[in-house]
Amino acid sequence: MARMCGIVGYVGSQSALNVVVEGLARLEYRGYDSAGTAVAFDGKLSVTKRAGKLVNLRDALAGTQPPGGADDEAHGAHSGIGHTRWATHGPPNDRNAHPHVDCTGAVAVVHNGIIENFAALRLELERRGHELSSDTDTEAVAHLLEEEVAKGAGLADAMRKVCVRLEGAFTLVAIYSGEPDLVVGARRNSPLVVGVGDGENFLASDVAAFIAHTRDAIELGQDQIVELRPGGVTVTGFDGTPAEVKDYHVDWDVSAAEKGGHDYFMLKEIAEQPSAVADTLLGRIGADGRLSLDEMRLTDDELRDIDKIIIVACGTAYHAGMIAKYAIEHWTQLPCEIELASEFRYRDPILTRSTLVIAISQSGETMDTLMAVRHAREQRASVLGICNVNGSTIPRECDGVLYTHAGPEIAVASTKAFLTQLIAVYLIALYLAQVRGTKWGDEVFAMIQLLGTMPQKVEQVLETIEPVRELARSLAGERCVLFLGRHVGFPVALEGALKLKELAYMHAEGFAAGELKHGPIALIEEGLPVVVIVPSRARPILHDKIVSNIQEIRARGARTIVIAEDGDEAVAPYADTLIRVPAVPTLLQPLVATVPLQVFACELATAKGHDVDQPRNLAKSVTVE
Ligand code: M6R
Repeated sequence: MARMCGIVGYVGSQSALNVVVEGLARLEYRGYDSAGTAVAFDGKLSVTKRAGKLVNLRDALAGTQPPGGADDEAHGAHSGIGHTRWATHGPPNDRNAHPHVDCTGAVAVVHNGIIENFAALRLELERRGHELSSDTDTEAVAHLLEEEVAKGAGLADAMRKVCVRLEGAFTLVAIYSGEPDLVVGARRNSPLVVGVGDGENFLASDVAAFIAHTRDAIELGQDQIVELRPGGVTVTGFDGTPAEVKDYHVDWDVSAAEKGGHDYFMLKEIAEQPSAVADTLLGRIGADGRLSLDEMRLTDDELRDIDKIIIVACGTAYHAGMIAKYAIEHWTQLPCEIELASEFRYRDPILTRSTLVIAISQSGETMDTLMAVRHAREQRASVLGICNVNGSTIPRECDGVLYTHAGPEIAVASTKAFLTQLIAVYLIALYLAQVRGTKWGDEVFAMIQLLGTMPQKVEQVLETIEPVRELARSLAGERCVLFLGRHVGFPVALEGALKLKELAYMHAEGFAAGELKHGPIALIEEGLPVVVIVPSRARPILHDKIVSNIQEIRARGARTIVIAEDGDEAVAPYADTLIRVPAVPTLLQPLVATVPLQVFACELATAKGHDVDQPRNLAKSVTVE
């Protein structure tokens, strides 16, 4: 099975192999266990696939890894498909790599998702004499298509007939040697977008794959089939009825999807944070000086009727949601819960028409979050998405959306998306406060002005980051790092620990500093690095408590690495290493305090020789529950 993968399809006048492989390179962040291509020419298909990263496939295609590489003519083919895989069931070997072909080798298919009834389909196919050579669910589709084509159907009709038999979530893209000018795609609960070119057209999991060729795209809806020919694109439902298509123009270009002189996408994305924050704030103040979030699509009356907010998200986005709870409750006095999206629908959450569910997702494709959105909507709650990818599934299924403007985030570890998610939740909280009258207009305006200074504060952190890099390199031999915080510093601590786990593969834990004495303090031993996020002095009650916590852990031998605002001298005597960040209001502190932790994890992982853009076992878009 292949569940979170990158898919590319092309038809046009260029070399399909070149276009497809370059597209896969831009999608490799979605999975990098194996990769493969299939192109159609001269009445046959040429299929090449390799376990491991894309470089192995490139070598095979260049003929440096015979046998099994593409023959020379294949490089002249004008239609093709490709796949980069994140394996779940079935080891990531050459055999399980996509594309998969039927018995005759005339049909090739790539797939993202899970075909839940594949075991029954496989049995059925084997009884009819088909020989399946991989462990995947995908291969069954190739054989089902083969049967339909043998009965006389064209590839598109065959796909329609097969799709209605499939259960589960899938994006499928196929080619057939008998129709070399056609690529067919199908979509149910898994991403697929069309790129519209001049005499050429593209299909991909993400616009990044074709952004070098066109910025004109079409969103595909649920249960739709797309036929791609050099001269046009046709979209129908699984039942063949023509579908209305929604086209859009991508507002970033190919340079945004490249490393721009940095060694890693992650470094580039960390550096882009000041502009990502600024872009997400852009145009939010109306002519009357009031905050305006037009794109949100929820009316002020609807927002006034809300009596509870529940935020759902995963991973880093969940940490943004935790911070949102503090801001929302403080500014709007509305009760706000935060819940892991993967847990949400299994606990019978109490949702009414007056509940606002906020779903936060960079990709807009995270299956756990999508399922939480669907559950909330079924229960009649209003759902507002915070998302970074225009046209992705979650914002399309929400009642309203606030887009972050971070630009494409390619590195698996989320950085600039996180900061912009924070901006989005601050904006929503302030907007609710304005609409519901829990803050005066001038108070909202003053906070917006403060938010406006954040790009420069984040820049300031980046300009003074070198000591953090040195510190990270010096800790490359450690086995464990703890992170402590209070109030909004607690989710920041969790985020610092998550970054270190996913990039440096180290044991890292984040704790609420007050909880330490209830157990985790037993972990402290001589020399253990403990990173402490110190709250702003504007809340002395929080600040003083954490100064005590630092003393407690230091007395037990911890090596204290303290992140504190400029001018905070009270912590200095207890800090083995002191990292300064600009002084900002308490609720906004995560915007500056998280950045050193991102750099810390990135540098430490690099010092250990890890590929920070593609950490082991992970993929960027988690399109499986
Ligand atoms: O695309 P999403 O924001 O929905 O993704 C959620 C998480 O998978 C994501 O934040 C993940 O935790 C990051 N890799 C962490 O850096």
